[in-house]
Amino acid sequence: MTAHTSLMDTLPAAPLVLGIESSCDEMAAAVLRGGREIVSSRIHGQETVHAPYGGVVPELASRDHVRAVSHVVEAALHEAGLTPSELDGLAVTAGPGLVGSLLVGLSFAKAFAYANRLPFVGVHHLVGHLVAAEVAGEADLEPPYVGLVVSGGHTALYRVGETGTPVLLGQTLDDAAGEAFDKVAKLLGLPYPGGPAISKLALQGDPRAVDLPRPMSRRAGLDFSYSGLKTAVSVELARRGGLESLDESERADLAASFEAAVAESLVARSVRAMRGESTRRIAIVGGVAANSRLRSEMRAAGEREGFAAIFPPMALCTDNAVMIAAAGTRLLERGVRDDLSLEAFSRVPIGDVPWRAPAPGASGPLE
Ligand code: KG4
Ligand code: ZN
Repeated sequence: MTAHTSLMDTLPAAPLVLGIESSCDEMAAAVLRGGREIVSSRIHGQETVHAPYGGVVPELASRDHVRAVSHVVEAALHEAGLTPSELDGLAVTAGPGLVGSLLVGLSFAKAFAYANRLPFVGVHHLVGHLVAAEVAGEADLEPPYVGLVVSGGHTALYRVGETGTPVLLGQTLDDAAGEAFDKVAKLLGLPYPGGPAISKLALQGDPRAVDLPRPMSRRAGLDFSYSGLKTAVSVELARRGGLESLDESERADLAASFEAAVAESLVARSVRAMRGESTRRIAIVGGVAANSRLRSEMRAAGEREGFAAIFPPMALCTDNAVMIAAAGTRLLERGVRDDLSLEAFSRVPIGDVPWRAPAPGASGPLE
């Protein structure tokens, strides 16, 4: 184990914690006071780097992170008006994610913590997403609740119990919902990232125009599947003679119909989960939680079914360092520390210690 619990270096009240996130194609740094108050937040995206390829190219992502990391951290400190010595702790995403991307943020964080003698802790990326809804959701949110994590890499439902430990209820059997948005965007000739581009085009389209399947609607349980929906869009395009044969309004109809199918399936699974749980709160987090149709349909379902659907603000749905600093502050306040042997790993368990990324090889309900 790289982690140890130390009572030696206790944190002051309302500690200033720097968060660093680099699990995919965003390099982000943020300073939080007391785990909640955003003192600064900077995000360096890589849209232009990956746009020509229609998706994230891992090697290009890590190279851009190497160029950006020190500038982004400096900018976050500058915006906060702080020097490194005024910080009380450092939190960094330890996984899951692209291993090369993770390594850049993690190596920088280790060096920074060592040089500035800061208590330092690794954070599970998905836990970060969930904590975003707890500290910045539109309504008060505390465990227990159900969490729907819906991003470019994950689509999963968790029960977040009293202790804050997420337990997996169901997950995608193939593509993540965000990945489906990105792939369908590519089919429709839209830029990366696909989610916002499809959403924008869908505003001009009719969501009932194209009859697309509702993934897993006849399957019991709480798992998801999106690769069939992507194939259905590609079959529909081929049937109509390819993208070139579609005019702008037909493209918009296809975008709107796809978006509606994804939103409907996410809502249907969430409703089923909520019927089986005693909590009346569900947090919807991750990049796809920024989708307006999903936000409104989930809220409407909540009103019908008697549950509260709680979203982080749009800016904290997609990857950011505020959520990592927030989750890290909780860990640091509980005395959890990592040392310089903490490694980046692409698949980490989520469940054995509340709100942290356990060491590689540790077991938990989610492998
Ligand atoms: O959480 P995130 O920033 O990164 C991961 O942890 O994966 O999520 C990125 C994903 C991308 O697939 C992107 O297309 C999707 O979130 N996304 C959206 C929207 N904004 C971002 N999907 C649908 N509608 C949006 N408005
Ligand atoms: Zn994410």
